[in-house]
Amino acid sequence: MIDGKKVLFSGMQATGNLTLGNYLGALKNWLTLSDEYECFYSVVDLHSITVRQEPAELRKRARNLLTLYVAAGLDPKKNCIYYQSHVPGHAQLSWILNCYTYMGELNRMTQFKDKSSRHADNINAGLFTYPVLMAADILLFQADVVPVGKDQLQHLELTRDVAQRFNSIYGDVFTVPEPYIGKTGAKIMSLQEPTKKMSKSDENPNASILLMDDPDTIIRKFKRAVTDSEACICYREEQPGIKNLLDIYCTCSNKTVEEAVREFEGKGYGEFKLAVGESVVSVLKPIQDEFARLSKDKTYIDEIIKENAQKANYFANKTLRKVQKKVGFPEQIR
Ligand code: TRP
Repeated sequence: MIDGKKVLFSGMQATGNLTLGNYLGALKNWLTLSDEYECFYSVVDLHSITVRQEPAELRKRARNLLTLYVAAGLDPKKNCIYYQSHVPGHAQLSWILNCYTYMGELNRMTQFKDKSSRHADNINAGLFTYPVLMAADILLFQADVVPVGKDQLQHLELTRDVAQRFNSIYGDVFTVPEPYIGKTGAKIMSLQEPTKKMSKSDENPNASILLMDDPDTIIRKFKRAVTDSEACICYREEQPGIKNLLDIYCTCSNKTVEEAVREFEGKGYGEFKLAVGESVVSVLKPIQDEFARLSKDKTYIDEIIKENAQKANYFANKTLRKVQKKVGFPEQIR
């Protein structure tokens, strides 16, 4: 608890471009969470170097991601948006937790198996202990809730196991976190294969809308979106393409499915797709404009980075000192 609020922590990697799916499925919901939770959103650059990165590129992407969060409306006074590398406690706690995590547990992690097969030339120890660093991220802030995608649930489960193991030895040191299941944010599917999730790593550029796509590109991609030959704008599983477009349209224009279906009754797919594209432009364009404006305001962004790193360090150090004492490290002489 911080100031009577529960703590929420999430980490995001600055690799790959964010898509409309990331925005509608996650980021948009985060905007409303800061009233209820004390929120920490870390740009997890320590995690990023488990696979090879081009340094200048990583630095640029990390800053863009942080700026984008602010541009999308996360208030940096209410949400602690910071770089993981600016808070040494992540690495320090991670080392300690390494000594309370079993090789067998890490061996079972499906993301490790998956990533090591994709980066067979660089199966480094960091990739193996990645879930421990993630546990450290979460436990360092005594997070109550962690919004994560399905692919990260196994890591969260490990975090809970490690926290409970540590607590059972040393008393109640860590808050045991729960996954945060938000208001069912629409799951946005690929525009080309609507039974597959919209992904930033899709090879077909027409499959995903990137947050930074310009209006013409957005409209063009919607015009090319895969539909069907039913000639009916109906919300049903048998028409996954149309269903996905309706989900996107409703989320972007704050309408219910019934309203949207009524609005497009008897209309053609062409007209419908254009309307969906326009609704997306109306949501993304203001974010893009704000991003462009903020990107030029170096002083303002630098200040956010500095202040939030201080705030994050303050809370991180509280936990870290407690843990260091528990495991038997001597107190520092100041
Ligand atoms: N592993 C997460 C991902 O790839 C990112 C992450 C790192 C994270 N630390 C975290 C997510 C802590 C939630 C909480 O998506």
